[in-house]
Amino acid sequence: MRETKLRIGIIGSGRIGRVHAESLAFRIPEAVTVAIADLNVEAAREVAERCGIPRAVRYSEEILNDPAIDAVLICSPTETHANLIVGAARTGKHIFCEKPIDHSLAKIDLALQEVEKCGVKLQVGFNRRFDANFVRVRNAIAQDEIGTPCLMHIISRDPAPPPISYIKTSGGIFLDMTIHDFDMARFLVGDEIESVYATGSVRVDPEIGIAGDLDTVLIVLQFRNGVIGTIDNSRKAVYGYDQRVEILGSQGAIATENCYPNQAILSTGTAIQRDLPLNFFMDRYTESFVAEMRAFVQAVVQKKPVPVSGVDGRVAVVVGLAARKSFDERRPVQLNEVDRTEPQLA
Ligand SMILES: NC(=O)c1ccc[n+]([C@@H]2O[C@H](COP(=O)([O-])OP(=O)(O)OC[C@H]3O[C@@H](n4cnc5c(N)ncnc54)[C@H](O)[C@@H]3O)[C@@H](O)[C@H]2O)c1
Repeated sequence: MRETKLRIGIIGSGRIGRVHAESLAFRIPEAVTVAIADLNVEAAREVAERCGIPRAVRYSEEILNDPAIDAVLICSPTETHANLIVGAARTGKHIFCEKPIDHSLAKIDLALQEVEKCGVKLQVGFNRRFDANFVRVRNAIAQDEIGTPCLMHIISRDPAPPPISYIKTSGGIFLDMTIHDFDMARFLVGDEIESVYATGSVRVDPEIGIAGDLDTVLIVLQFRNGVIGTIDNSRKAVYGYDQRVEILGSQGAIATENCYPNQAILSTGTAIQRDLPLNFFMDRYTESFVAEMRAFVQAVVQKKPVPVSGVDGRVAVVVGLAARKSFDERRPVQLNEVDRTEPQLA
């Protein structure tokens, strides 16, 4: 008899593929991973063994062509996403795709059209929307706890830059790193971004500049409803993963601090100290990864809309492209300069 659990295939068993494989194996009983694919089949085997996945394969086609698989997680590098979305949609599989969908709006539009045509679900991996701190901030806005929102600040700094090989194919800081913050900004404010002014610099590693990218950026967002937002990104904060937000409204403010491995404060005759914050996304956002995967599984099983749509994935790329144009041309850029489609909140 066929299992009643949602049957999932994972494509890509690198950093993020492992995170999702573990969530499904140990935290989400409504689904079962039946196969995992990676061009590096040894990596797939290792994850399969740890997570009790019965099949490890080399090629994504083995997952896409398996009629017993209901849904796929696309966790391979960004340049593979759009084609895999099209392949999965055509074989009738529901799709969870890591961010960003692609760096090109034309490729994103083709993929989203195919998803629409085939009637499958697509959720994009903006996991931070499922973080308890940010959910609380969103609720304060949605439930009018701080009055009319006026200013929004996001601080988002990595502990250390990725390897230069990763930087070279990442699409640049705005599409690789800030993309999470562009989505977070829309999520928290609950309205659309109209224009972007981005400035940036290379302060962390000259090699990042040689690769054509930036490692230190500051962005000003102007929202349709009048809210003004800033995003501050650095590829290197020596004290750990710095992830904070604040919104000021007409009746108050709401802010979140970093997350720490413990709450202990050490007070001595010379200083008051605490341990460093959780070091990177695997530790800081563990629970949000579980929650986003649970939400995907529930959306498919219960035939509900996904909480983060293909349109959300596309809008964040539009903002990223506008930010790069703003940096290159040293002026604020309206989103409709890079995209003529009217954005819609999901
Ligand atoms: N949501 C998040 O916080 C988050 C965090 C990290 C990465 N990501 C995204 O996830 C994606 C993967 O990033 P990563 O850091 O896990 O990369 P990674 O390099 O650690 O892993 C990618 C894996 O995919 C495999 N692969 C490459 N091409 C493949 C193909 N055609 N079929 C099957 N496997 C293939 C590689 O061998 C590798 O093992 C990227 O799009 C990235 O932007 C999201």
